[in-house]
Amino acid sequence: MSVFNHKKYRAFPTIVKTNRRWPDRVIEKAPDWCSVDLRDGNQALIEPMSPSQKLAMFELLVDVGFKQIEVGFPAASQTDFDFVRQLIEHNRVPDDVTIQVLTQAREALIARSFDAVKGARSAIMHLYNSTSTVQREQVFKKSCDEIKDIAVQGAKWVRDLAAKQPETDWQFQYSPESFTNTELDYALEVCNAVTDIWQPTPEHKVILNLPATVEVATPNVYADQIETFCDRVNRRDCITISLHTHNDRGCGIAAAELGVMAGADRIEGTLLGNGERTGNMDIVTMAMNIYSQGMDPKLDFSDMDRVINVVERCTQLAVHPRHPYAGELVFAAFSGSHQDAINKCLAIDEQTRETEGDNCHWQVAYLPIDPQDVGRSYQEVIRINSQSGKGGVAYILEQDYGLILPRWMQVDFSPHVQHFAEQSEAEVSTVEIRQIFQDTYIDLVEPMNVESYQASRTEGLDKLSATIKTTEARVHIAGEGKGILDAFVNAINFKLNSKIILVDYSEHTLGDNQQSEAMAYVQLGVNGQRYCGAGCSEDIVGASLRAVLNAIGRSGIDIKTISKINEVCKRPLVDG
Ligand code: KIV
Ligand code: ZN
Repeated sequence: MSVFNHKKYRAFPTIVKTNRRWPDRVIEKAPDWCSVDLRDGNQALIEPMSPSQKLAMFELLVDVGFKQIEVGFPAASQTDFDFVRQLIEHNRVPDDVTIQVLTQAREALIARSFDAVKGARSAIMHLYNSTSTVQREQVFKKSCDEIKDIAVQGAKWVRDLAAKQPETDWQFQYSPESFTNTELDYALEVCNAVTDIWQPTPEHKVILNLPATVEVATPNVYADQIETFCDRVNRRDCITISLHTHNDRGCGIAAAELGVMAGADRIEGTLLGNGERTGNMDIVTMAMNIYSQGMDPKLDFSDMDRVINVVERCTQLAVHPRHPYAGELVFAAFSGSHQDAINKCLAIDEQTRETEGDNCHWQVAYLPIDPQDVGRSYQEVIRINSQSGKGGVAYILEQDYGLILPRWMQVDFSPHVQHFAEQSEAEVSTVEIRQIFQDTYIDLVEPMNVESYQASRTEGLDKLSATIKTTEARVHIAGEGKGILDAFVNAINFKLNSKIILVDYSEHTLGDNQQSEAMAYVQLGVNGQRYCGAGCSEDIVGASLRAVLNAIGRSGIDIKTISKINEVCKRPLVDG
């Protein structure tokens, strides 16, 4: 039989519930956040954080805005103990931040945990023991009552030792570890027994933390468990319901969000989701989800790069490029249609913002939030590979180099970039895109230049005479037409006996002062085909004439034939 045998598993039992309200609720405000990066996150690392890494992480958490931070498991680790002491003795904990330490329900460990936080202005003593069926029966081999007694006895030790350190403003927290795998009635019985010991009041609440230690069911089942717990727990008004989800099924964030809809007040998690196995609930994502719904998340992730930097340095784990809100690629669009849509929406957003100011709402296709909110630039949004289209390429040329390609030029240019991307089998950098443009439309292999020109206008007719320099000779041409470019093309047609047609034309300056260079784009019709060219010069006429010559050069007309034609125009349309 195959080892891949689903019969080894069974479905998690759903909760029979008739008064389910959470599906109709929405999250209306940010929950209280508690970071467990320095405890749960740290316990899961291949190499636990060094003291300096812990400090960098702590400072980041404070700067981001956490008011509750679980700083370690001091009874289980000397490094954690020393770190907690360092925080307290060196006055590293701001007045509005409360540190939290985790302890098992054993007297010596609880006592050691109290030693660790001695002198703290405020602290949360977090007591836990495992309550699930599997843990009771197979790991501890104890009855329900015996497991409950562990929690109750632990709660008594916590209460009594706290009384001996009255200089600290204490809050108590209890976690029935593996709550989701614990019979709900039994979890309630244990939690009620613990709160009986701690006697919370509405002014001085106890935190009951309900962990999905291992994620075992769909998030709606967790929400049912939380709503049922909230409905049935004693002294609900004296209790802060906290959630602590892990991500084994990839739904840690969803479970926490539904849990908040089901009545929870507080969330424990880590930055970017580091933690045991598949990680803890990712607070960055959940907070940014709240932010993207127009609510203050009460955490500030505007410097996302710093968050990533510190997390990567401390955990030695790379942040996935597609990590929600934070990954390098999450605001990048490679697909042509996405780039086009983003481009259009960003242009409208810019206009709307000018008229409506900050009151206007973000409505940009494919971008759930404004990348600038988390310190990313629009430059990073449009990225080019073989899947990209004209809009993205045009966006980059405009943003990075000030080249405003008309649509017909975009259509012409895009396949050149696509071809390059296919050949290189890689992303195309902005520098490469600019170079491809230069090589395709400006720096032709056998260039022709306008060495000099003279233009005049009489009675609505433009007259132009010019000297064109090819690799082999100088050629004098002259012509007239409606506009200088028309005159120029007519002159060339006369010289070459050709039927080149000026199809489209566009120009702009490359800056906003008088010294700025000019850029011109033309599209010519030559023997039924379209050819584009571009030209750059210090004046707009020079740029346009160059663009025409470059388009002709690209058309396959043998430019040397120009130089072979008599150097002096025999039958000039105008004197030149
Ligand atoms: O995942 C868990 O159950 C825990 C508890 C100790 C809260 O980390
Ligand atoms: Zn955990």
